[in-house]
Amino acid sequence: MDGMNRSIVSEFVFLGLTNSWATQFLLFFFTVLFYLASMMGNLVIGFTVTLDAHLHSPMYFLLANLSVTDMAFCSITAPKMIYDIFKKHKTISFWGCITQIFFSHAVGGTEMVLLIAMAFDRYVAICKPLHYLTIMSPRVCLFFLVSSWIIGLIHSLVQLVFVVDLPFCGPNTLDSFYCDLPRLLRLACMNTQELEFMVTVNSGLISVGSFVLLVISYIFILFTVWKHSSGGSSKALSTLSAHVTVVILFFGPLMFFYTWPSPASHLDKYLAIFDAFITPFLNPVIYTFRNKDMKVAMRRLYSRLKHYRKQLGCEDGTRDA
Ligand SMILES: *[C@@H]1O[C@H](CO)[C@@H](O)[C@H](O)[C@H]1NC(C)=O
Repeated sequence: MDGMNRSIVSEFVFLGLTNSWATQFLLFFFTVLFYLASMMGNLVIGFTVTLDAHLHSPMYFLLANLSVTDMAFCSITAPKMIYDIFKKHKTISFWGCITQIFFSHAVGGTEMVLLIAMAFDRYVAICKPLHYLTIMSPRVCLFFLVSSWIIGLIHSLVQLVFVVDLPFCGPNTLDSFYCDLPRLLRLACMNTQELEFMVTVNSGLISVGSFVLLVISYIFILFTVWKHSSGGSSKALSTLSAHVTVVILFFGPLMFFYTWPSPASHLDKYLAIFDAFITPFLNPVIYTFRNKDMKVAMRRLYSRLKHYRKQLGCEDGTRDA
């Protein structure tokens, strides 16, 4: 059981979510549906913000960047899971597994920082409206964007540096549909208690810490809105409630994974579906359905596209009647 046996495990086996044909079929249908819907929804947000000059403000730039990270996030585990659903023997190579962990933590960490930047943006817009454009200058937005990627990368690398060298000498089944750190550590042929603690601190504290920070800042913002409530406050409230919903949906399952004491529970496997498929899908839904400017911009973009197609002669004129 020493380092000499490390190369025995070259791939890991996923147990997946279910063995029943009917459930696999349903799972396939819904995961494909949600995956395509979240890719489409986030693409539409990204294009609308980029192409519509009315939405060229810090809030929408951050939102479009969140859409890009959402697309990246759901493409890390979802396609592989969908590809695997009907396979009896679901495997992933050692480096495939490490790659999944690397990107899910890097993109997840980035998304966390972006959510904090979005909260800060709302704080400035509501509590310091006269200085909004000077504080949230393009340079500051870019700074937020670059630091979110750097923090995500560092967060992910710090954990993986230790995992890459672990000895894996036999057991290679993961009761899951993707690679995650807590499960992988339990397969190593050495005592990983300290590493597990490090992962709990790194991922758990970061997610709980950001969540608490976000909740406090939103309570503070809501308090300010309520104190100065006037005509404009209902729009602010609807924007804020959209942000708070996204924050709870994103952090809820994460905090459960990394801080829940009982590793034997199967619940986290099902909660993982939530983060892999539902949250990236819900972000565009929440932001577009509740946001009038976004809806108006999407309609404007749509009619511009139609106009453009007519000019090119692609439209036969009868289809859109
Ligand atoms: C992301 O944010 C940057 C900085 O504000 C902005 O220039 C860029 O257009 C945004 N990305 C998208 C896809 O909107």
